[in-house]
Amino acid sequence: MSSDDKPRPEIGQPVDHFGNVEVTSAHPGGNVPPETALKTFRPVAIPSKGSDPTHAGTASVRSVLRTPHRTPRPRRARPPARLAAALRRAGARQRAYRVVVRDEGGRVAWDTGRVESARQRAGYAGEPLRPRTRYTWSAEVWDDAEEPAGRAESWFETGLMGGWRASWIGVDETVLPVFDPPVDDDLTANTRRLSYCPHLRRSFGLARRPERARIYASAQGVYRLYVNGVAVTDAELQPGWTDYRHRIPYHAHDVTGLLREGENVLAVVLADGWWSGFVGFDPRRAGKLYGDAPAFLAQLHVDHDDGSGEVIVTDGAWRESRGTLRYSDLLMGEYHDARERRDGWDLPGFDDSAWTPAAVTGGDTSLLTAARAQPVRVLADLPAERTWRGPDGHLIADLGQNMVGRVRLTVRGAARGTRIRLRHAEMLDQDGRLYLANLRRAEATDVYVCAGEPEEVYEPAFTFHGFRYVEVAGWDDVEVTGRAMHSDTPWTGEFTCDDAMVNRLHENIRWGQRGNFLSVPTDCPQRDERLGWLADAQVFLPTAARGADVAAFFANWMEDVLAGQDADGAFPDVAPLVCLTREGAPAWGDAGVIIPWTLYRLYGDDRVLRRCYPAMTRWVDHIRRHNPDLIWRRRTGRHYGDWLQIGAETPREVLATAYFARSAELTGRAARVLGEHEDAARHEELAAAVRAAFAREFVTEDGRIEGDTQTCYLLALEFGLLPEHLRDAAAAHLARDVEKNGDHLTTGFIGVSLLCPVLTRIGRADLAYALLHQEGFPGWLFSVKQGATTIWERWDGWTPERGFQSPNMNSFNHYSLGAVGEWLYGGVAGIGQEPDSVAYEKLTLAPRPGGRLTRASAVQETARGRVESAWSVTGATITLDVLIPPGAEATVRIPTSDPGRVAESARPIGECGHVTVLGHAGQGDGALVCAVASGRYRFTAPWAANEPPL
Ligand code: BGC
Repeated sequence: MSSDDKPRPEIGQPVDHFGNVEVTSAHPGGNVPPETALKTFRPVAIPSKGSDPTHAGTASVRSVLRTPHRTPRPRRARPPARLAAALRRAGARQRAYRVVVRDEGGRVAWDTGRVESARQRAGYAGEPLRPRTRYTWSAEVWDDAEEPAGRAESWFETGLMGGWRASWIGVDETVLPVFDPPVDDDLTANTRRLSYCPHLRRSFGLARRPERARIYASAQGVYRLYVNGVAVTDAELQPGWTDYRHRIPYHAHDVTGLLREGENVLAVVLADGWWSGFVGFDPRRAGKLYGDAPAFLAQLHVDHDDGSGEVIVTDGAWRESRGTLRYSDLLMGEYHDARERRDGWDLPGFDDSAWTPAAVTGGDTSLLTAARAQPVRVLADLPAERTWRGPDGHLIADLGQNMVGRVRLTVRGAARGTRIRLRHAEMLDQDGRLYLANLRRAEATDVYVCAGEPEEVYEPAFTFHGFRYVEVAGWDDVEVTGRAMHSDTPWTGEFTCDDAMVNRLHENIRWGQRGNFLSVPTDCPQRDERLGWLADAQVFLPTAARGADVAAFFANWMEDVLAGQDADGAFPDVAPLVCLTREGAPAWGDAGVIIPWTLYRLYGDDRVLRRCYPAMTRWVDHIRRHNPDLIWRRRTGRHYGDWLQIGAETPREVLATAYFARSAELTGRAARVLGEHEDAARHEELAAAVRAAFAREFVTEDGRIEGDTQTCYLLALEFGLLPEHLRDAAAAHLARDVEKNGDHLTTGFIGVSLLCPVLTRIGRADLAYALLHQEGFPGWLFSVKQGATTIWERWDGWTPERGFQSPNMNSFNHYSLGAVGEWLYGGVAGIGQEPDSVAYEKLTLAPRPGGRLTRASAVQETARGRVESAWSVTGATITLDVLIPPGAEATVRIPTSDPGRVAESARPIGECGHVTVLGHAGQGDGALVCAVASGRYRFTAPWAANEPPL
């Protein structure tokens, strides 16, 4: 068995890595009951390389309510990384907190003392943190009745903070094997260019077992690291993809339990990954984007109980050899020849004298930065649902789900040397063959050459594919399991309703997120692309943040967006910037402004905003400088317009100018938050001037916008570009267009996320539902009806009339058009926040019954805590169950046909001490609006079936 096949153990406690810090799961502490206990401390901005250590981390104190009504249900979604404390009374608020951080010796590094504040974040401001040190921390919370309301503890550990002594090592290119004339082989033009995956090892002795050991590791490429034959982590494709020209992440692994007295071995397998493998679609920059060959770097610190220690680093003492992997590439796939296995190569006692000394390929550690986001992991197994023999005589396995990852292939009874080829596809063509044309240059083919054992299990190590179908050629007695992998962002939200098609749509959106949040937010997982497109990410972020805690994931990726900004201030189209090196287009480059702002709004952490702010202003200056008349016509990059719109043509200048106004406005708002008031005024003025220019140039006196498309109106209404007297008219034009199109949408990537939210806001939730339920073409349920299990890139990716769209661009796993997911939580279930609220401090619960639905519910772990909203209509009664987290006050809009007869827990609403009636929505019917304190409530109210639009 090679190391690659070995089960990965849990090493101590599961370790995650945020900032320069390892964070473990919680130790419930003090008097906090387990179900409301501390989860984790998330330090986001631990300085690496010993830079400014004063901004080291932020404690988030989040309160979770235990209500008097019911005990909390067990969590299905994993909560976000926050300290949770118990505020037990309904309506309880946090009055004060105290955070104490201690070092390993118990010395206090930071003590806030008791702080009279309801704040739930506290940036570390203690003494400078030392490298490689475990700090424990505790937080206490008091409520407004002066009761201690919860206490919790956890720990974090600092990284190397610059103390690197290791060098980069790899294959010694001067030691080449003899070269024979080419013969026929089973390589392709692409794979022939790939190199073997080096195996590197280093043996060393220890006089005794250490008290503690950590290995800090990174690669130019991707790696799997073993200590005495055991993988140090279950993370995949480490260290992940960043803009390696600017930073290379490293991870810390706790390997204390893996070392022993006597001989020990560090062993690593290296592959090209994003560093030197094929990435993107540009054949002129097909691969080797960062370097010619992969390299590895690691530093093992062994600490003994007497205070002594030793350090083992990557250097010329390591030995290198070929192994089983002839090549392994993200786009092309992997070639594993099991006959080349060297058993025991990663264990003590192996004779490596025939191996080549590793080459030291470099000594520059200046780009190493602590990994900031969750790693990629295999997070679901999908056994084949059906296997049959395809038209070419090969087996085809259907996993029942378009997924991203790899296959685990169990092979029985194959003779040594049997060559098995796995090909992967999202769809089958009309003849039942794999539909491979849309992969373009990506080969997505894995080859396994059997060792000849009775049963062999193969799982590719350094590649991933986007697929639902797997073709197995070369051997029939096999078992296929799909192993889905993605960045391990904790799931925080759930949505469900009583319409199976809508539920499937929600699932498809989630699978799109799973598959495409792989180290960076990618557009697609299957073809020769897989790039971090900025607009896709920008339109999908609000949806993504409903379902999962993506704060660290996006904060990490924003570093690549910043790195991609050019000297003129233009953000790129894609990050990390590997191709398409031109200036970013409208709505694409604008993501550099929109994403930091959205993260701030959703998570309340102003540090990403602060970090990005100068770049945001440079982007706005860039647009303004080249467009003095404030209509964005010049320097528009590749200008994709409302990409993949259908049956409509939104004028590009309209779209661009709308985004110009938006970016100016958001930069102004960011400036206010950050206390840059002069800048704020400058941007506010600019935004107003662009809005005026937009109205002058594109809007007629009857509220029509040039182009007259859904996206034109959506942008203008959402971004506030219209003079007040024209808003209703523009809203009517939008509604008219939807109706004129027979309740069909015409939007592309840019308009799509705004459709349902804006229609709801203008009082036409009925039309939003009509679009949601639309099963005809085009619409979200059209693909669901065709059996889609993910969101398609194009509305017409496949239609019964014309079959597949152009294979030049036809992904069946693109999340952008799934941006409607945000409305399922925010519109249908109604979880939201006031326009001026941050991190759900001023929560709004405005459920919108409608369409075919008679019930819907959503759960969301917000930055303030768990929020629930569930409504159901039975006969003439609507029931609304809500959970409001401690410290938040919610404005709840209870839909009803008779606001005078609303009850809470079967009592008249006036008798409920924690609810204050604010009034009736709209014209006095439709809903009762209340201010509701934290707690769990059940409202019941009369409901007339044919309710006027809410
Ligand atoms: C990508 C999209 C991207 C678009 C812009 C496509 O190739 O897949 O996601 O936004 O190009 O042109």
